[in-house]
Amino acid sequence: MRELANVNGTICALEDAVIPAEDRGCLFGDGVYEVVRAYQGRLWGLHRHWRRFQRSLREIDLQPSNLEDIRGWIEQTYRASQIPNATVYFHLTRGASPRNHSWSEALEPSFFMSVRPFADRGIVAGIRVQSVPDLRWRRCDIKSLNLLPNVLAKQQARKLGAYEALLVDTQGNVTEGSSSAALAILDRTIVAPPQTAAILPSITREYVEEIALELKLIFQERWLSLAQFRSAGEAFLAGTSDEITGITHVDGQAVGTGEVGPWTREIRKVYRQRIEQGKD
Ligand SMILES: Cc1ncc(COP(=O)(O)O)c(C=O)c1O
Repeated sequence: MRELANVNGTICALEDAVIPAEDRGCLFGDGVYEVVRAYQGRLWGLHRHWRRFQRSLREIDLQPSNLEDIRGWIEQTYRASQIPNATVYFHLTRGASPRNHSWSEALEPSFFMSVRPFADRGIVAGIRVQSVPDLRWRRCDIKSLNLLPNVLAKQQARKLGAYEALLVDTQGNVTEGSSSAALAILDRTIVAPPQTAAILPSITREYVEEIALELKLIFQERWLSLAQFRSAGEAFLAGTSDEITGITHVDGQAVGTGEVGPWTREIRKVYRQRIEQGKD
């Protein structure tokens, strides 16, 4: 088992990975990324992450000529790490060049990837979230490296004793978490925000939509105000890293009974079963 990196097709120990200081990813956040989990030696949902990655690339007009090689590097590097339960991060930036906002079409994109053992954050009995204004740009559907508003929101939530920030737009509606999708359950209906450019198309949310069908729950897209979200019977976060995580409190106020709700537990259980069965 070794923590590995891959820089432009070359595998190395993670601590030895080197990236040019003038990479546009560092200077401008000019690139897109994905985070994938591996369970029991298998990359979970890679085809879905790959589809979203390709979409993000198109949306920022970054079209590498070696996309299929990159897909191969991801699989090879993960296999070489021999880490059964891993977090796999990868990004592609527009490349390295002297700082200039506009870019040359001749630039070679830069790939970076890391494989580390999954670090369990020990969430057992659900989490508290803190509402924070959503200060992000108008293309949150792109999984861009520009994460400053997300980072600041999460830190603000942590300072106030919450695990995650619940982002609220200028209309007063809940968009998502700083690194997770936010969903509520009202009666037998899972309510998720409309899949617009205001939120990331979450892969875990895709699974939740499929699981809703299995459990005969309704999956509905509509905006919820912060007050509506808070007063839902149940609420949860969905994301690659923390999977399905029940929300017990919003801004210190209990959601439902103040414990992880029964449907949330059921959805989490079915999600974990799918992982065990490799049904991605
Ligand atoms: C802003 C944001 N929303 C939602 C998600 C959840 O997406 P996924 O389920 O694909 O991990 C993430 C994950 O990183 C995120 O950063």
